[in-house]
Amino acid sequence: MHFRHLFRRKSIDMILAHAKNEQEAGHLMRKDLGVRDLTSFGIAAIIGAGIFSTIGNAASYGGPAVSLLFVFSAIACGFSALCYAQFASSIPLSGSAYTYAYASFGELVAWIIGWDLIMEYAVGNIAVAISWSGYFCGLLSGFGIHIPDYLTIDYLSASRGFKEASELLAAGMPVADLPGELAEAWRAWTMSPALGGLRLIADVPAFAIVVFITWLVYRGIRESKRASNIMVLLKVAILLMVIAVGAFYINPENWSPFAPNGIGGVLKGVSGVFFAYIGFDAISTTAEECKNPQRDLPRSMIYSLIITTVLYVAISLVLTGMVSYHLLGVSDPLAFVFDRLHLTKLSGIIALSAVIAMASVLLVFQVGQPRIWMSMSRDGLLPPVFAKLHPRYQTPAFSTIITGILVAVPTLFMNLTEVTDLTSIGTLFAFVLVSGGILILDGKKTPAGNLGRKGSGKFRVTYINSRYWLPVIWLGVFLILLKLDPEDLQALISFDRLPGETVWDVVKHKIPHAAFLIVAVSVTWIAVKKELSLIPALGLLTNFYLMSQLGITNWLRFLIWLLIGLVLYFVYGARHSRLKTLR
Ligand code: ALA
Repeated sequence: MHFRHLFRRKSIDMILAHAKNEQEAGHLMRKDLGVRDLTSFGIAAIIGAGIFSTIGNAASYGGPAVSLLFVFSAIACGFSALCYAQFASSIPLSGSAYTYAYASFGELVAWIIGWDLIMEYAVGNIAVAISWSGYFCGLLSGFGIHIPDYLTIDYLSASRGFKEASELLAAGMPVADLPGELAEAWRAWTMSPALGGLRLIADVPAFAIVVFITWLVYRGIRESKRASNIMVLLKVAILLMVIAVGAFYINPENWSPFAPNGIGGVLKGVSGVFFAYIGFDAISTTAEECKNPQRDLPRSMIYSLIITTVLYVAISLVLTGMVSYHLLGVSDPLAFVFDRLHLTKLSGIIALSAVIAMASVLLVFQVGQPRIWMSMSRDGLLPPVFAKLHPRYQTPAFSTIITGILVAVPTLFMNLTEVTDLTSIGTLFAFVLVSGGILILDGKKTPAGNLGRKGSGKFRVTYINSRYWLPVIWLGVFLILLKLDPEDLQALISFDRLPGETVWDVVKHKIPHAAFLIVAVSVTWIAVKKELSLIPALGLLTNFYLMSQLGITNWLRFLIWLLIGLVLYFVYGARHSRLKTLR
């Protein structure tokens, strides 16, 4: 195989022509979705475990200033949303970022991103299913129904929690005083049946909801659309109610200090906060089922992002205003604050809406993943069976079932935090590449609104010249840094070692930051020199920045995942690529 094959690109015209052939060959999907359905699909994908669950930990580190992290993440997502929108408008096919990368970077990067999107869709759904199970069991116990703990917790959390709890108990703490989550893990471990040396512990409700949603998705997009529209209305209404009622219980003293743990504390929440925004891009995977994808996809992505940003910022302020931030490190913070203020009925309603909200996130991602595989299979990078549509339901049946298995089985034993981190890093990487893709496709000095390219769609990212604006923005960032508390700055760049730490222990954590600095300097240099478009450049920089905050362990896990993908590509995809046979 030649090196240049790795970068063989599918032109936008070629991509559209292939799609037409597929459609003529009878692989036509049902075109059912309009702008309202799509916006609803976006909101369905976005509002879920993030705002109902992971916001809790983020707020407990960052305090009220976590609301600023919500704003920053929304801005980063907004830049990439505009890039996604331009791509979705030019290439209205199901593959999302994968298809876009094929057009801009070539086959190898397209494969990498297709592989990476498994992190966002399938792994993301593992996280959502785990959170769903937590809220669902809480809700059941509100009705007096108790599922044994060993059937509602993952193996890893139970074994870790048991160990921690045992240490506390050995130190003399009574069982009744164990903190909630440790007590649950301890009960699960001690009461679980054992098979030889292995404890039978698994998160069965998480598994069950994934099986149910997979069945729904398998049956067809029309059914999923109806279910998703209803769920979205309900969850938005309930979030509005939380904001409206919660506003009356705000004690402004809780907002001071605004950033109790400095900027470092706020940045600890990146993974959880960013996770809350993941999903607007998933709309693009339904491109072939849209009535007018070129007009509706860009609009609905941006609408859903704006709506959720407003809700999120308001909720983070209300939450941190209602109780002191340090109490929020629980898995069900929204229900928790209302419960704490003795508004138990409201707390129950919130738990119910969380269960609904998360089910709708699951639904959208279970719809998205098989459609990405379908596109990869059409290109020959995955076996043909991944693109096969069900004769009656017209859904990619095999891919849907594989997605179901891939998500359902790990929910039985995987741990929430680790899965959330992996999802966030994988998705940020996709956003970086999509922004980079628009940078490359648009080239330099693109006059606004007129690319003059064949196959270009109706939506364009407005061209703003980086040469003038990027230096000004960097100057602004620099001035803000100067305004920071010197202790904060010191903490960000410190190389201090804790007792017992080696130099490497400290240096390795700086690698992602160093990577950001290198990328930032290079991108700025090229963008200024070649007068590149500002918005995609900022998309690339802001998302890479968020990525650099996710820690070396996540970077390593992510790189291992990408390596496995590369091996698969060379074993199968590179040999079967349709571009190979077409040329
Ligand atoms: N944004 C989605 C959620 O918060 C993934 O559940």
